[in-house]
Amino acid sequence: MTSIILIVINALLFILPAYIGNSSAALFGHGKPVDGGRVWSDGKRLFGDGKTWLGLFAGVFFAFAAGTVEGFLLQNTGFEIGGIEKYAVLGFLLGAGAMVGDLAGSFLKRRLSFERGQKAPLWDQLNFVLGALVFAGLVFIPSWPELLVILIATPGIHLLINWIGHELKCKNVPW
Ligand code: CTP
Ligand code: MG
Repeated sequence: MTSIILIVINALLFILPAYIGNSSAALFGHGKPVDGGRVWSDGKRLFGDGKTWLGLFAGVFFAFAAGTVEGFLLQNTGFEIGGIEKYAVLGFLLGAGAMVGDLAGSFLKRRLSFERGQKAPLWDQLNFVLGALVFAGLVFIPSWPELLVILIATPGIHLLINWIGHELKCKNVPW
């Protein structure tokens, strides 16, 4: 395999738990908002109704689960960057970072008077990944080419996942 393909594979394998966490938050999130309905000094919501406790916990949990499973599957494949424990920790950090980045993204959107759910191109797709990279950086920092792949590929992949989710909802598929 050429090194470019290897870089792309390694980059996507690394960030995968963050994608899964983010999708899980959207799939399972509803109910009590993280900000409890509170408003900031500008009279707008802190985060808004799109950031719920259930979404937050689902995001962290499924990213952690995904990281652990990935660590297990990658054992002795040559693609692994550590043992299962490392992947479990990475999954947790990627999930927690994704959720914090997503919250920070919504906080900024509210400050700039974007309504909940209003599109903020690139920002909507990158906030969770930036948070994930910062948190995961505590235990693993991807190479520059890998980081570049993650940042370039994420908006497209994120839009694709959103589109699939939307299509599925149209067909009333419960998951
Ligand atoms: N979601 C959630 N809890 C989270 C993150 C997401 O419940 N911590 C759910 C919400 O139902 C949200 C949906 O996933 O509407 C899509 O997430 P996102 O696009 O991040 O939120 P938006 O509704 O677009 O809100 P915002 O404008 O704040 O980004
Ligand atoms: Mg959105």
